[in-house]
Order: sequence, then C-alpha cells, then structure tokens
Amino acid sequence: MSQEVYQLCGTRSQLIVQVSDVAEIVYYGKRLQYKVSLTELAAIARAIPYGRLDVDVPVSLNPQLARGAFGSPGLEGHRNGLAWAPAFTLQEVKQEDTKLILASRDETAQLSLVVELELDSDDVLQMRQTLTNDGEQGYSVTRLANTLPLPARANEVLSYFGRWVKEFQQTRTLIEAGGYIQENRRGRTSHEHYPALMVGPQGFGEQNGEVWGAHLAWSGNHRMRVDVKADGRRVLQAEALYLPGEIYLQPAQSISTPTLYVSYSAGGLNGMSQQFHEHVRHAILGERLTKPRPVHLNTWEGIYFKHDPEYIKKMATAAAEIGVERFIVDDGWFKGRDDDTSSLGDWFIDKQKYPEGIHGLIEHVHGLGMEFGLWFEPEMINKQSDLYRAHPDWLLAVEGYDAPTGRHQYVLDLQQQEVFDYLFERLDSFLTNYPIDYIKWDMNREIVQPAHRDMASGIGQVEQYYRLVDKLVEKHPDVDIESCAAGGGRIDFEVLKRTHRFWASDNNDALERQQIQRGMSYFFPPEVMGSHIGAEHSHTTRRTHALGIRGLTAMLGHMGLELDPVTLNDEQKADYRHYVELHKTWRGLLHSGITYRLSLEDAKAQQGVMVLSEDQELGLVNITQTAMGTYSLSGVLRLPGLDPQASYRICVVDEPVGLHQIVNRQPTWMKESTVLTGEWLAEVGLAMPLMDPETALLFSLEKE
Ligand code: DGJ
Repeated sequence: MSQEVYQLCGTRSQLIVQVSDVAEIVYYGKRLQYKVSLTELAAIARAIPYGRLDVDVPVSLNPQLARGAFGSPGLEGHRNGLAWAPAFTLQEVKQEDTKLILASRDETAQLSLVVELELDSDDVLQMRQTLTNDGEQGYSVTRLANTLPLPARANEVLSYFGRWVKEFQQTRTLIEAGGYIQENRRGRTSHEHYPALMVGPQGFGEQNGEVWGAHLAWSGNHRMRVDVKADGRRVLQAEALYLPGEIYLQPAQSISTPTLYVSYSAGGLNGMSQQFHEHVRHAILGERLTKPRPVHLNTWEGIYFKHDPEYIKKMATAAAEIGVERFIVDDGWFKGRDDDTSSLGDWFIDKQKYPEGIHGLIEHVHGLGMEFGLWFEPEMINKQSDLYRAHPDWLLAVEGYDAPTGRHQYVLDLQQQEVFDYLFERLDSFLTNYPIDYIKWDMNREIVQPAHRDMASGIGQVEQYYRLVDKLVEKHPDVDIESCAAGGGRIDFEVLKRTHRFWASDNNDALERQQIQRGMSYFFPPEVMGSHIGAEHSHTTRRTHALGIRGLTAMLGHMGLELDPVTLNDEQKADYRHYVELHKTWRGLLHSGITYRLSLEDAKAQQGVMVLSEDQELGLVNITQTAMGTYSLSGVLRLPGLDPQASYRICVVDEPVGLHQIVNRQPTWMKESTVLTGEWLAEVGLAMPLMDPETALLFSLEKE
C-alpha cells in the first residue's frame, strides 16, 4: 500500500496510524488541535543507526521477525514446521467512524490477519487481532499478541500482584533496560495477576503525569509485558497465553485475541481511571444497571454450611429490619453439601436441610420486600458427588494423571456438550422454577491441567464458560449475576459484559479492604465492586474493627452485609442500619459520580477518596486512618476536580466515635459551618483532623 495516515480521536486523546506495507501506531497521546498529514509525520521519521539492519523497522501492530523486528513477535506459529516466520502485507484499511480495520495477508504462509482499533469519545482504545488460516493444512499458533508501541519516556510500570484475601496490590518497576513481564497460568483471571498494568514517565501520580493504562479483558491464562528495545523504544504486549498445542487452526479457521483496553491520560491515574469508569458505565454495563444497587446480606460468614430454613428466615427478617434489599443464600443449600469436601455438581435442593424445598424461604424473603439470591459454583465437581459417580469422565483433566485438587474439588470439562447441557439445564431449571432474582456464580479453584480429550484447552474452557453464562443471561435477562472466584479471582471486563457485580475479596477486614478496593478502583467504578460489612471480628485476619470504619469502607462500593444479623441486639441493628441508610442516601452519587483517589500528605498513614457529581454540585470524601499518624499533625487535604469559582459547604457526615476527645482541638471546620471555594480547596486545602489508627471519616461538599 502507498503511505497513508489514519487517525482516531477521543475527547482528550488521539491515535495516529501510519500505513504502508505495515501499519504502525506512531502517536497515541494527548488530542492534537488539528488533523495531521504525512508532512508532519516526516518529522518523526527515525534515523537509521550503524550496526543494525539497513532499514528502519517499525513497531507495527504485529511485529514480525521476517520484517526485522527482533523483539517479542506479535505472532508465533507454524504449519508442520513451515510458515514459521510470516511477513504480513497490508491489503486494506477501512475507517468506520470511531473504528479502524486493517487487513493484512501473507500469500506465502497462507495466513491473514485483521487488526481492529476503536477509540470512542470516552478515550478508551480497544484493540483486537484475528488470525485466519487460509492454507489447506492446519496451522499451529503459539502466540498471538496485541502490540502497542509506547514512547521511550514511558519508563515506569505500575503493576498488580496479590493472592487470596489480598487482591489488587500494586508495585512500581522502573524499566530502563529489559522490561517487565507477567504470566498467569492459573486458568482464571487470578488473584495473583489482575491482567492490567499502567505505564508512564517515572513519577506519574494520581493527579499528575502521563499514563497509559492497559487491561486485557480475559478470564484465563494471559501474558502481559513491556519491553525496552535496544533503541530505547518501549512496547506493550498483551495476549491470552496458549498452552502447548492448544491452538491449531484448521483450514479457514480463525483465532482472535481478547480485547485489549487502553486509556491514555495526561492527567495522571485519576484521569485514566475516570475514562475507564466512563467506558464501563456506558459501553460495558449500558442499560443493565438501571435500578439502584440493592444492599445485600450474604449468608456465608453468618452460618457457613449450617443451613436451617427456619433460622435463615429469621436472618432474613433481621436483615430486612436493618434495611437490606437483597438476601442471598450462599454455599450449603444443595444435596449433601455439609462441608467443602463434597457435593459440587449435585445442583438439587438438599432435602435433609430443606424438607419443604426453598419456595417458602423465597416467599418469606420476597414478603419482606427483598430480592432473593442463590449461590452456585457451576464449573466444579467433587469426587464425592452423585455427578462424579455417574460421570467420572466429565473432568477437565489429562487421563493417567492425578492433578492436585483445590479446596477438595475438580473442574468440569465445559467443552463436552453433555457437561455444558447438564449445567445449563440445572441452572435454567432453578431460574425457571423459582423466582430467583440473583445468582452468585463462584469458582473456587485454579486449573492445573485444563484438557479436553487430553489436549490442552484452557482457552476453550474459558470460552465455554462465557457461552454458558451468555445462554443463561439470554433466557433470564432480568437475573443479576455476581462474579466471584474465591473472592477476586475472576474480575475483568469480559466477565463484566455478562455479569453485574464482582465479589472483590473474601477479606472483609476494613483495613485490607481499603487497599484492595483502591487497587480495583483504577479500572472499575464503585457500583460493580461488592463490598460487605463483615463481623466485628474479621474471619480472615482475626482483627477487630469498630463499625465506623467497617461501615464507611463498605459504603464505598456496592454495599452489603456478611454476618448473622440474628445475633445482633436492637441497638446493634440500629447501628448497622445507620450505615445501610447512609449508603442508600449517597449511592446515587457514589454509583454515578467521578472518583478521585486523593493524594494525602501523610500517605503512609492515611488513604482518601472523593466522589464528585458530574456537574460538580455535590461531593463525598472518605478519609481512612490506616495506621498511626507519621507526625503529630496530619497535614492539609487538597481536593481536585471542584469548580474553582463555586463555594462549597463542608459538612461532616460520619466521624469516628470520640474523635473530639483524643486531642485538645480538632480543626474548626469539623464543628463549625464552613464554606470554601473550589479554588481554595484545590490549592490551599483543609487542615486534616487527628484520627486514631483504623478509623474513618466521611464528609460532604455541597455547592452553595
Ligand atoms: C468463596 C466465596 O468467595 C465466598 O464468598 C463464599 O461464597 C464461599 N466461596 C462459599 O463456598
């Protein structure tokens, strides 16, 4: 193709693609004020140094060795040892409004490749690549990666790590040479490596610096990397990770990468997050979250496997008194499920525990004005189950191996049609025969040998999981689904396309939750982040927390309770009700507003977040004292995003018990009516109160 230039423009960002024989993103950054032409592109035509190839080698959308790209290739594969170094030539570029479709072909290797790029007004770029085998013999694919060049100044990576009950932890790595790589081989999105990273010039912060945030929307094995080339250019790649032999394309067959979502912001991490939140709300959730998110009570930590329908009815009654709007019966309700060693797969009501079935319980819950939810873990099976005894060959496993169990359980091979049909029939029959409003879809183990007919099929398993959810959603579109995988093991955009809420973590300790929720907030808005007030004494950390910090932490997401409300006396119920009501009062703002993670002067000991309405009329600020203050004063809080010309009345909404007894004097704004301009609050700020460790404060800002 002759040289041409194409552009996609968001509201604040712009992508420029230069095409000739290959396509290269030559610019992805701040939106320019005019349309670029080839003349300007000459200004960034690279020098060609000695000691290398005699030609310039672009970081194309799919870098290939055959074109002299020595870094990590965009495609690796072969046809019985041949066609292993393809060189694609661009055939056609189609621009459709916000979308660019670039089709390339390698006549010799008999392969074609289509790259789709889309950049909407919400400034989230989507990239996807599809490889098709045009040959007459099969083609084995080892890797197919989305590739995004980054400027050489992007030398710091902010990435995720974690584990069960400690998800979404973050770490920064300087990349001067070599690079950064993360691989997830756990068979689900994973607690360890949420498939995302952020990269930018060193020192980017919440409100400052350039940042490119990238998330691979995929719920299985993945690889993400940022390489520093010997010439200083940086390259980001994101792909589904294929196990050996897993992808074999028959003639005319295709394989697509998951979608890579990227958002560029010149306004730091908050700018990036706000763009992702906007995209999630409009493009991913769309009309699916129309009604206010109902406050949950989930039975798990209240009763675990001890199910007695009369007692559960009492729990529902007590929950309703506290203001709960959706009551969920968690694990333990189905045939023989008395602990976690048995019965997964036997999706029938346990007649011992529920001799009358669950109709009465559901009626009771509905009668109290609450929705009813039920827990399932469809993809799993215990060897101690009727299902396993009848179908030992339904396991996702390689014959001849006894792979380790996880929580005593195995995984079902969803690619076997009978397995898929059985699970659909079971779930469908519950949703058809009972007025169930909500299901909590759990997935409690990692996958060791994902095999279909003994061959690796991690990708196929994930795709079948999507199909199963999709088929159910198609038939029962009004049922909300929560995605849970031992807490936050399956949280990503692809799951969110078909679900409504994530269980962020099995850790309800408010202090840990503050960290986990902050990490999750970089990509997800609060309304999809399941966040529960657990018992005073945390079941995962054994730490004890006052209700204040537990309530204010849970209210920042989609709120719920995770305890046995029958054990609460009237006074305690009133205290819980206070936080439930607080959430109900503010959820309209929390679930539609703009989130700002605050940069605090004593960041070692405090964490803060503000949610501001789009029209800048109303804001809510949460400050959590996570540790003993570093100094005897806590500094000044400056608030971004407000209308500088407007005046805001500041009101304390909820404060730790005894806040005024622990010092000679707290800042005066905490007790006296105070009105300050947005400009003052942004530039000068508010003196921070002194708070005991592990307490939290909530205050509002209302435009006068
Ligand atoms: C793990 C989940 O994260 C918990 O909330 C609970 O549903 C248990 N599984 C039940 O087995």
